[in-house]
Amino acid sequence: MRIGVLGSGVVGKALAAGFAGHQHEVMIGSRSPEKLVDWLRENPGVGSGLFGDVAAFADVIVLAVKGTAANEALAIAGEDNHAGKPVIDATNPIADEPPVNGVLKFFTSLDESLMEQLQRQYPRTRFVKAFSSVSSARMVNPHFEGGKPTMFICGNDATAKEVVTGILGQFGWETEDMGGVEAARAIEPLCMLYCIPGFTREQWTHAFKLLR
Ligand SMILES: NC(=O)c1ccc[n+]([C@@H]2O[C@H](COP(=O)([O-])OP(=O)(O)OC[C@H]3O[C@@H](n4cnc5c(N)ncnc54)[C@H](OP(=O)(O)O)[C@@H]3O)[C@@H](O)[C@H]2O)c1
Repeated sequence: MRIGVLGSGVVGKALAAGFAGHQHEVMIGSRSPEKLVDWLRENPGVGSGLFGDVAAFADVIVLAVKGTAANEALAIAGEDNHAGKPVIDATNPIADEPPVNGVLKFFTSLDESLMEQLQRQYPRTRFVKAFSSVSSARMVNPHFEGGKPTMFICGNDATAKEVVTGILGQFGWETEDMGGVEAARAIEPLCMLYCIPGFTREQWTHAFKLLR
């Protein structure tokens, strides 16, 4: 598939490299693509561009920007360039204030997630929450003694979720579909839980697994 990654941070780079490693055609986007020159030299199969070029190129888009900028990044990318396409939403609504005792602050409430805000703003775009509750270093081909980790996903479009489930399987995850976009109210805060051992004990190497 043609994958367009919106985001030049650690998540955008990890997922762009991961998709390229799994033989997809990949472009990574930034408002200033020139900042990616060194990284592109180390990842020669990946192209780069402005958010709009990358979204227009893609069959599947990855949204990997700062949570407070997610709406703006999608506006810059151009609504017509992502309408109708699956957008893998890896963002978290992390506020600009510091964590309290290792607990991140969010700018959303438990009654409205960031992905619901984005879905309402861009009704034609097929958002699927994924990759938001694991550190960038464990997103692609994760290896755990305890077996395959679980990625919780949600979104309103069944076909888009099938596409994302296929990608997650390729990357070495088992997928649990939690339902419609509202389930992002529960999935996004997993990031808070994930980060507590990181901020308080420097432990960032875990992942979640659903046991039955
Ligand atoms: N770090 C992790 O391990 C991790 C794990 C799971 C999920 N996440 C989530 O993934 C997302 C990306 O995280 P990250 O740590 O890779 O990077 P980040 O620092 O949160 O975001 C960097 C990206 O945000 C874009 N951006 C910042 N301000 C913007 C604005 N005003 N308008 C448009 N774009 C703007 C930047 O664009 P430019 O390229 O133009 O500068 C850059 O591409 C976040 O939502 C984070 O919560 C992170």
